[in-house]
Amino acid sequence: MIAMPTLPYAYNALEPSISRASVENHFQNHHKRYAARANELLAKTSLADAELEEILHATARRKKMSELFRNAAQVWNHTYFWHSMKPGGGGPATGQIQTRIEIDFQGHDNFAATFKRAAGSVFGSGWVWLVLDASKLKIVTTKDAQTPIIREWRPLLTLDLWEHAYYLDYGARRLAYVDAYLSSLVNWDFANVNLALAKSGLAPAGQNAPQVDGETTPRSETTITV
Ligand SMILES: [Fe+2]
Repeated sequence: MIAMPTLPYAYNALEPSISRASVENHFQNHHKRYAARANELLAKTSLADAELEEILHATARRKKMSELFRNAAQVWNHTYFWHSMKPGGGGPATGQIQTRIEIDFQGHDNFAATFKRAAGSVFGSGWVWLVLDASKLKIVTTKDAQTPIIREWRPLLTLDLWEHAYYLDYGARRLAYVDAYLSSLVNWDFANVNLALAKSGLAPAGQNAPQVDGETTPRSETTITV
C-alpha cells in the first residue's frame, strides 16, 4: 500500500509563483490519483506490502507491470517535487550546493540557464532534475513518469514539467514557470540535505528511498543535459 505524503506547506504557500488552485488541483487530483491507481494495481500483485522504492525497482523493467511502475513512480516524483520547493526559496544556491555549482556549472547564472534550457527541451510531459552523478552535479531530464532513483543518479531537486503543473497559472508559457521556480521557489535546504545524504551513501530525504542499486535502464529513454 502506497501512502500519500503530507504536503509540506499550505496550498497557498507558493503564491504568487504557483496559485493555491494549482497546488490543490495538482496534489488532490493528480498526485492522489496516481497513488490510488497504483494501489489498485498493487493489490493484484505480491508487492502489496512492499515499500514504494522497492516497488519501483521491482517493476521498472517489467513490461507487464508498466502501468504500476508509471503510477508508483509518479507518486515518488511528486513527493520529491513538493519538497523541492519552499515559500521564499529560489535564487542562488546556498551551502555545499553553492560550492558544487561554482565548480560544475561555473556559477549560478550558467546553472540557471542550463536548467531552463533542459526544461524547455522536454517534448511533452516529463521532469527536469538536478542530480549527483558520481561526484559531479548534472541536470538531467526524464520523460513521462521516468525517475532517476532507478538509475545511478542521486536526485537533489526536481521540477514537474507536465502541463498540469503549470497550465492553470502560466498557460503554455512553460519557461515562465521555470523562471518562477528558479527565482522564487527552489528549496536549496532540501538539495543540501540530499547532497549530504548522497555523499554519506544514505537514502534521499523526503521519503524512504533506498540507495540507488546501480541498475540502469537504457539511456535512450533519458535526455542528459550537462
Ligand atoms: Fe504533476
